[in-house]
Amino acid sequence: MNLKIPTKTQLPLYKASPTLEPINTRQTQTARRVYIETYGCQMNVSDSELMSGILTQNGYEMVDQLEDANVVLLNTCAIRENAEEKVLNRLVHLHHRKKRQSDLVLGVCGCMAQHMKTKLIDAAPYVDFVLGPDAYRNLPMAINSVTIGDPFLGLKLDKGEDYADIAPIRVEGIRAWLTIQRGCDKMCTFCIVPFVRGRERSIPMQLLVDDVKRLVDEGFKEVVLLGQTVNSYNDGTHNFGDLLFGLSEVEGIERIRFTSPHPSDATDDLIEAMASCDKVCNYIHLPLQSGSTRVLKAMRRTYTAEAYRELVAKMRARIPNLAISTDVIVGFCGETETDFMETYNLMAEIRYDSAFMFKYSSRDGTLAHKTLDDDVSEVEKGRRLKEIIALQESVSHETNQRLIGEVVTVLVEGESRKDPDRYQGKTDGFKTTVFPKANSEVGDLVRVKVESTTAHTLIGSITK
Ligand code: SAH
Ligand code: F3S
Repeated sequence: MNLKIPTKTQLPLYKASPTLEPINTRQTQTARRVYIETYGCQMNVSDSELMSGILTQNGYEMVDQLEDANVVLLNTCAIRENAEEKVLNRLVHLHHRKKRQSDLVLGVCGCMAQHMKTKLIDAAPYVDFVLGPDAYRNLPMAINSVTIGDPFLGLKLDKGEDYADIAPIRVEGIRAWLTIQRGCDKMCTFCIVPFVRGRERSIPMQLLVDDVKRLVDEGFKEVVLLGQTVNSYNDGTHNFGDLLFGLSEVEGIERIRFTSPHPSDATDDLIEAMASCDKVCNYIHLPLQSGSTRVLKAMRRTYTAEAYRELVAKMRARIPNLAISTDVIVGFCGETETDFMETYNLMAEIRYDSAFMFKYSSRDGTLAHKTLDDDVSEVEKGRRLKEIIALQESVSHETNQRLIGEVVTVLVEGESRKDPDRYQGKTDGFKTTVFPKANSEVGDLVRVKVESTTAHTLIGSITK
């Protein structure tokens, strides 16, 4: 497995609690080889890297094939019902495997673990342990205590846990994920995240500056800052704008991205930092959720459709060629045809470069689940979703078409999956671009003249 070896100063993994000492039972008999399967968002990808860091530091070997493992960890997502169903199906498959491989240890980690708690053990009694997002320091202990019999549960949320002392293990590449903030305090009524990831906390800026310097030493050229509401970052002294300015000064980092900001926290500081720091990409993922102020209110999104529209106008005026993507939910509780049309029309007006679009999925534990009626039928949700997907497809296509003849700057990431003679990379605006290698190398910033496009890809060749 091609891994980056962490160079971060390693601090003790365990907080000063005698109950958290690892008990070395089966570890002494068999070498533990761990395979992590990651579901959901980039935050989970980043958490899996963190888990690899914790395990490697404790003498475990990470493997990239399920077949080579005797410990399998599923790092799960709980955002919509189908995300949990996917994992439950996967568990059935792994149960069969466990019957054939008697020493196989199976752990469920992450948001679904935190959401379902012991219900997960009820549904899949063969699972050996269940660890939520704030309990990853317990991983070695959970694995080692499997022989004891009872499934280990690590489900305490801890506002003090930021894992800032742990060096994640990243797969080699050009782009690195860097978690700068954990948890969320926003409490949108549809969303499970605050319940499974706990309260918001930010990692001190100086540590993040050091992290980015280390990433440069390890060969990364681009860093993506991660947080649930990444732009509400505040370490007590520095806000998100300060962080962008601070990280821009790190020599050798070529590009800085971040995801996902919350529209209500998009301050002038943020806009200024994006406009004036060359390394900060001219791209923002700005979740809209709904174009109806009435629905936004029921969602507790803390902005109106009008305020969102004005924010986009202000950002576009200050940041030339700004690419914008978004998240939209259709069929939220009480969403009428008029509300839906407001979403449709606002999307058509803003013309996003791309969008992630979802049917509302009621999540147990959220305020919407407790107090609102999930009253839009599945069929109607499906129809609304289809309509905005069709709209977005045509807008994305036209936006790409308009780039034909233009020159875009691309960070070369690696060979194109379809053609080994070509490279692929992303533009500043996060569009995938494919072009003949010429004399370029992975990690270079090259200028590519766009010659044609497919549905989601720009095709061109390197120019001066
Ligand atoms: N602030 C986070 C949001 C994470 S959830 C971030 O942007 O990183 C990602 C998206 O999933 C949300 O923006 C929302 O559009 C969608 N989502 C969240 N809860 C949902 C639910 N109950 N049903 C459908 N979609 C949901
Ligand atoms: Fe979820 Fe809203 Fe936070 S979508 S992650 S509660 S900003």
